[in-house]
Order: sequence, then C-alpha cells, then structure tokens
Amino acid sequence: MVNGGILLISKRIQDIQLSSTLAATQKTRELKAEGRDIISLTVGEPDFDTPKYILDAANKAIYEGKGHHYTDSAGIAELRQAIADFHQKHDFVSYEMDEIFVSAGAKLILYYLFQALVDEGDEVLIPIPYWVSYSEQIRLAGGVPVFIETDPENGFALTEELLDRYTSDKTKLLVLNSPSNPSGAVFNEEQLRIIGDYCVRKNILIIADEIYYKLVFNGAKSQSIASLSEEIRQQSIIVNGMSKAFAMTGWRIGYALGSKKVMQAINKIASQTSGNAAGISQYAALAALTEGSDFMEENRKLFETRLNAAYPLVKDLPGFKLYEKPMGAFYLFPECSEAAKMTGYDTVDAFTMALLEEAHVGLVAGSGFGMPKHIRFSYATSTEEFAEGVQRIKTFMEKHRAK
Ligand SMILES: Cc1ncc(COP(=O)(O)O)c(C=O)c1O
Repeated sequence: MVNGGILLISKRIQDIQLSSTLAATQKTRELKAEGRDIISLTVGEPDFDTPKYILDAANKAIYEGKGHHYTDSAGIAELRQAIADFHQKHDFVSYEMDEIFVSAGAKLILYYLFQALVDEGDEVLIPIPYWVSYSEQIRLAGGVPVFIETDPENGFALTEELLDRYTSDKTKLLVLNSPSNPSGAVFNEEQLRIIGDYCVRKNILIIADEIYYKLVFNGAKSQSIASLSEEIRQQSIIVNGMSKAFAMTGWRIGYALGSKKVMQAINKIASQTSGNAAGISQYAALAALTEGSDFMEENRKLFETRLNAAYPLVKDLPGFKLYEKPMGAFYLFPECSEAAKMTGYDTVDAFTMALLEEAHVGLVAGSGFGMPKHIRFSYATSTEEFAEGVQRIKTFMEKHRAK
C-alpha cells in the first residue's frame, strides 16, 4: 500500500477522527514525560490500581493453568454465568448464556454491535453530548449519526417530543448512555420508561451503554433500562463492562446482553477478528463479580465524595457555567465560552489548549462530545489534585483578565 513513499490510507479511515479523549490524555502524558508539572483532569478511569482481591484471583488462575489458551469467542461459560447472576441480582433481569457476549472492552463490543446492526445509510440517534466513539464507530459501519440537541438547563433530558423530531423512516438504533460521559446526567425511571416505550412503539433498537451504572451519587438510582419491562428488555442491547466499577480499564473486559440473534452476529465478527478476550482477564473479571462484594460500594462512595468536593470549585470559576449537580459517572461538563472570551480566546478548543500549555492543567475540549462550548473535567483523581488544578485555572483567568 505504498505509493511514491506515501501510505495510502483508506477513505473510510481518513474520514474518522482520532478519539479526542485519548488524544488529550496522550498529549498530557507527553508533557509530563518532558518533565512538566501537569495536573491531568483528562482521564476516564479510576486513578488507583485494581483491587487486591482481583489481583490475587488472577494470579491464582495463572498458576492453576487457567486462561492460557483460546476460549470461546463469547467468553468462558463461568464468566457469562457470573454476569447473568450479577444482573439478575442487581436489575432483576434474566439473561440466558447465549444472550451474553464478552469481549475486549465495551468499546470493542460497541464497534461489533454497530458493524452487526447498521447498514449503509441507516440512521442512528445519538443524544448530545455523546461519548466520542459512538459517531465514529457508526460512520465506520456506513451509518449516519443523527445528533439530538438536548437542553442542558433541562438536565440534558431526552423527551418523547425530541425523539419524535429526529426519528425518520431510516432510524434503526438509538444510543443511550446513562449515566453519561461527559455530562454525568442520569435518566430517572420515568424518563427511561418514556424512551423505552417510544422505541418499542417505533421499533428502534436501543443500544444502552450502561458502563457507569454503578457510579451514581447523592441518592440517584442505578437502573438498567432492560429492567423496566419485558418489551423494553427485548428492544434493548445492554453494554456494560468491568472498567469503571471495578477499576479494571487495562484488563479489557466488556460485554453485551440481549437478543441471541444479535449475539450470534457479533460472534461471527469476533470469530474472524479479536477471537476471545484475554483469558486471564476473564478469570479476573469472574473474581471481580463473584468475590469482594464491598468494593463496588466503596468505589461509588469515593467518587460521590469527590463529586461533592469538585462541583462547588468548578461552579465558582469565573466564566464557567455549571448546571445542576450531575448524578453519575465521574465528570463535570461546564459551558466555558464566557471564560474563553474573558481571556482572549475565540474558541473553547483554543482555551483548553492554553490551559494545558500555560496553566498546565489537562482537560478535554467539548468539541469531541458534540458541544464545542464546553469542557470536560474528570474528577477521577484525588480531591487535592483536583483542587490544585482548579486553583491553577483561577490564577490563569486572573492573569489574562487583568490584561
Ligand atoms: C461511555 C463509555 N462507554 C464505553 C467506554 C469504554 O469502556 P471499556 O474500557 O470497557 O472499553 C467508555 C470509556 O471511557 C465510556 O466512557
């Protein structure tokens, strides 16, 4: 594929963007490696290591000869059973073994789902703001992302009126992400029911990315949309995984729950591409789900404390507009166009870059999430580090406003 020294990259790949969250994290890492004192509030993962009970179980599995060989491409039966039991216990929803598919992270599962379900020209509804990878993965499958403008002042709610406005006879899927990355918004039961019933009526399949569903705070309820009714369960594919709730991002275990037919379709793709998720990681995930039942709640409480400390700090920053306190995930997503203007920047993208290069605080610009006037802060970092990051932004603002 070399032509006169120039690599010929396919049009399909030329047309998609590099993940903006990964790019921001990478840039922050590079500056740190150069010896610069950077506070990184870019990361989408817990800042501590995987809990010891999981490490011990993985270690034991290795020496017992488990996970050294290829497994079923859908994952080992014990893990799929543990996933079924977990969702039965937490959501009162039953899945058969052939309705569960394990692979190397929720991101890959989503890619498989779009490949399996989207034909050229099919429309996929995505509420704004959205996690960066949905639109690009849908484009890779030949689909057309249709972005739904939600109202931040109304908690980014997805109403029936909005769904109706953006649905056409080409609409095939809706991507739902509650709790949301980047807004932290959590849909309540009534809102989920309205969305679920609408999709049942219009025969739109729901891809529900529930990867943060155990990270809900200050009284919010953690709920899978599949638990609302049998019709909604059948109309939904649930995506979840070990990364966020168990601090296992590097182990790469995610899974899908839903129609056997869809699982068979993604099995076809996995069988020709990734094969199975790493065997050792599957045994580690099995231990995470079946042992050490306190960890998830401790993790949730830690992020709740961090949210409660981080929210007032960002709310007080001049020109940063925060809405109601988010109830889930580990992000804050203020509107910052005023702050950018106050300091002489035309765009929030340029302002974000200046915060990194001059204030030495890494953040992710909202443009990759479909809201270019916003910035994403991750509070998956210690409260002290977060406070120091905010102080640096304050100092930056004071210096540039005074000019
Ligand atoms: C909304 C959302 N979905 C999916 C993922 C991917 O998770 P995994 O680590 O399982 O691939 C992320 C990770 O940042 C996420 O924020």
